[in-house]
Amino acid sequence: MGETLITIRDARESDAEAIAEVHDAAWRHAYRGIIPGCELERMIARRGPTWWRSAIVRRSRLVVLDFDDAIGGYASYGRNRVPALAYGGEIFELYIAPEFQGLGFGKRLFSAARKDLAEHGYASFLVWALAENEQALGFYRRLGGTIVRRAYERFGTEMRERVAFAFE
Ligand SMILES: CC(C)(COP(=O)(O)OP(=O)(O)OC[C@H]1O[C@@H](n2cnc3c(N)ncnc32)[C@H](O)[C@@H]1OP(=O)(O)O)[C@@H](O)C(=O)NCCC(=O)NCCS
Repeated sequence: MGETLITIRDARESDAEAIAEVHDAAWRHAYRGIIPGCELERMIARRGPTWWRSAIVRRSRLVVLDFDDAIGGYASYGRNRVPALAYGGEIFELYIAPEFQGLGFGKRLFSAARKDLAEHGYASFLVWALAENEQALGFYRRLGGTIVRRAYERFGTEMRERVAFAFE
């Protein structure tokens, strides 16, 4: 039996469909019961292969966890979007497909994003997570993040708290 080669690499246009599938599965898994159902469906529908293809073409920083024949996760990151917070970088999204969670891949993807951010001059960075997303909160705490800001985000008619973890 051959060994699967696992790599973290830049996303390619041909990954758009697979990333959309990971996004769909990971978001349903993470946010069902947290984000109101119809809002969640709308958010997922908006992020189909076309959306991802254009993100890749725009050359956003987007890396994937490549299992040779499948994409198991992705991370996007770049400059911190809230200039009032004194952190250079931000991990915008980091998602592992449900069947690949809990195996150390989230940490590998996080470390790759952290390294790339540092190489682009962003020694410190933030990651936002919904306060009710216990899985993400536990993960970012375990990796050494500390909550430095709380804010609210609107989902349709409802508000949800989100928290920013800082990494120095
Ligand atoms: C959160 C997520 C990225 C973590 O990735 P993962 O591959 O499941 O986590 P890993 O296996 O790499 O775990 C890395 C470390 O964090 C720990 N950890 C992971 N989840 C944890 C939790 N909920 N509570 C405490 N520790 C946790 C692991 O035990 C491991 O510790 P170790 O290094 O001492 O062995 C992934 O589960 C995921 O995509 N979840 C759904 C989407 C999501 O919430 N994304 C983040 C949105 S901001």
